[in-house]
Amino acid sequence: MNVSRNFVLSGTGFLVIGIGFGIYMGASGNHEFAPLHAHLNLLGFVLSMIFAMAYRVFPAMGDTKLATYHFWLHVPPGVVLLIMLFLLMSGTITEAGMVPVAPIAEILIFGGVIVFLMNALKNAN
Ligand code: HEM
Ligand code: HEM
Repeated sequence: MNVSRNFVLSGTGFLVIGIGFGIYMGASGNHEFAPLHAHLNLLGFVLSMIFAMAYRVFPAMGDTKLATYHFWLHVPPGVVLLIMLFLLMSGTITEAGMVPVAPIAEILIFGGVIVFLMNALKNAN
């Protein structure tokens, strides 16, 4: 799998939606979606782009199975977490309704960061 390309494409997908929410907030004056907007742009776009670049700057990192695992641990759980956050911010579900899906997604994303760290320790040279 071309992990860098996949991170760039999915990260930019997050950005399109994130900026969409930013424009909606600016236009409507309803800023309730600010945490969703922030995490679409930061967790979704900024982190994905940094990962994509790291896998190019350190090609030995990008060529591993760990990089592929990291992609699957970051992007699909990220989508799930941000959908849950949208449901919360829009008042469709309560905070209790976030459990257990959102915590599971968070643990998977965290697992991806640990995999990234292990990969960096071995191959970032
Ligand atoms: C055209 C693009 C964008 C528009 C129109 C926009 C609009 C907004 C608006 C209206 C708010 C709410 C401010 C408030 O309630 O205090 C906000 C907050 C924020 N935006 Fe954006 N934004 C844009 C792009 C970005 C990008 C590219 C990033 C990050 C890479 C970003 C990160 C944030 C953060 C971190 C917050 C703070 C959220 C919070 O205080 O809870 N925004 N933005
Ligand atoms: C699974 C990963 C993450 C979780 C579970 C998480 C959770 C949270 C929570 C619960 C808040 C408080 C929101 C509020 O008070 O309304 C918050 C705020 C914030 N987070 Fe995260 N976060 C994550 C990842 C990140 C990342 C990767 C970044 C930046 C690269 C980031 C940037 C911010 C910023 C700037 C705020 C303050 C703005 C806001 O209130 O929306 N977060 N985060």
